[in-house]
Amino acid sequence: MGRFRRSGSGGPERSFMKTFWHLVKRFLGSLQQKSVSEQDLLWVAEILSQSEMALWKSMPENDQHHSIEVARRVEESLAEPEQTILAAALLHDVGKVVSKAEIWIRVLATLIGLITSGRQHQRWSKRTGIIGKVGQYLCHSIDGALLLKEAGSDSLVVTWASEHHLPEHQWTINPEIGNLLKSADDD
Ligand SMILES: [Fe+2]
Ligand SMILES: [Fe+2]
Repeated sequence: MGRFRRSGSGGPERSFMKTFWHLVKRFLGSLQQKSVSEQDLLWVAEILSQSEMALWKSMPENDQHHSIEVARRVEESLAEPEQTILAAALLHDVGKVVSKAEIWIRVLATLIGLITSGRQHQRWSKRTGIIGKVGQYLCHSIDGALLLKEAGSDSLVVTWASEHHLPEHQWTINPEIGNLLKSADDD
């Protein structure tokens, strides 16, 4: 194919302990306020359409920072940068803007998400208060895909937002691209 410099591994499903330690690391990391440089902002604006940029800007700065880290890793893995793949990396978590969940709700939601079903998360997402936020956070894949569809994004961008937390066997996108995007994403 020649498109990729290297491809990531599909990887086994995460164990509870791996997820737990990852959450501890993420929690400690999130206590530090991250900022986005002017140079990165210009880079993002070159990749995204105007409506995608408006969505991306609505994310908290820590989430913007995460999305840039992921997209930079993807860029390094590509022999030739492909705008759509970079846009998919930048916007995979954009659905988190719906819940506006604080870090402790994110940690709580991720733990609860390990032992509850997607159907349950969707029911919670219709509620208000903490349960609503937990549900909306756990449904960020669905919400992100809807927002990106409305913004007129490419189908890869919409589909990756929707599938980025699914196991590889449920992906409908090219698994080589999926693995590249997944291995660049550390959450
Ligand atoms: Fe996500
Ligand atoms: Fe992510």
